Amino acid sequence: MNAKQFAAAKAVSFVENDMVVGLGTGSTAYWAIEMIGDKVKKGELKIKAIATSKRSEDQAMSLGIPILSFSEIDQIDITIDGADEVDDQMNLIKGGGGALLREKIVASNSKELIIIVDEKKMVKHLGKFGLPVEIVIFGWEKTFEKLKSLGCIPTLRMENIQPFMTDNNNYIVDCAFGEIENPTSLHESINSIVGVVENGLFIRMASKVIVGFENGEVREESRVESL
Ligand code: 5RP
Repeated sequence: MNAKQFAAAKAVSFVENDMVVGLGTGSTAYWAIEMIGDKVKKGELKIKAIATSKRSEDQAMSLGIPILSFSEIDQIDITIDGADEVDDQMNLIKGGGGALLREKIVASNSKELIIIVDEKKMVKHLGKFGLPVEIVIFGWEKTFEKLKSLGCIPTLRMENIQPFMTDNNNYIVDCAFGEIENPTSLHESINSIVGVVENGLFIRMASKVIVGFENGEVREESRVESL
């Protein structure tokens, strides 16, 4: 097993029968979904799930994990997701995989958000990883300029020779801010730009961060006041 798998295994140990589970997106969340699928297949776990991307939904369905829509649930018990950066306040940058909007919707409707990462994702200050911002396609050039005026170097995310398209048919702009001194005010400034749908800063949303190490060690940090 590698560091991501160790973190995923620990997170999956918090999943109990009859829970509604939010399934994250990315190469770390992938392992959590595989492990949940394995338990479901063996009859060790009976859960229902809601996915944060079409990719994760397809993976879950291929493993026999029952998938629900928001109209079928009141609340999500636990969401397990990855992150691109985690600071020492447990604030996050997410969206490296382009799923930040659905990830934030699922996280904000979850009683608990468990973030699983390897040690390389832990930082003192957020911002070395370019902040993903989901924007609508209409007028994107103007939204792009407004993001630039906040002091970042923006790049329209591409996939081959086309702009990358999210599951919600929007574009992503990756904003290189460098060290982010005040994530809360930056979050507000970005989301107040018309044309921005959501950004990848997850402020005080994680209730638990599980860090996996290559040697099998797993560290767990919890927030007392969550969501
Ligand atoms: C996808 C995400 C992912 O959680 C994030 O990019 C981390 O991915 P990985 O586990 O592959 O490093 O936010 O939108």
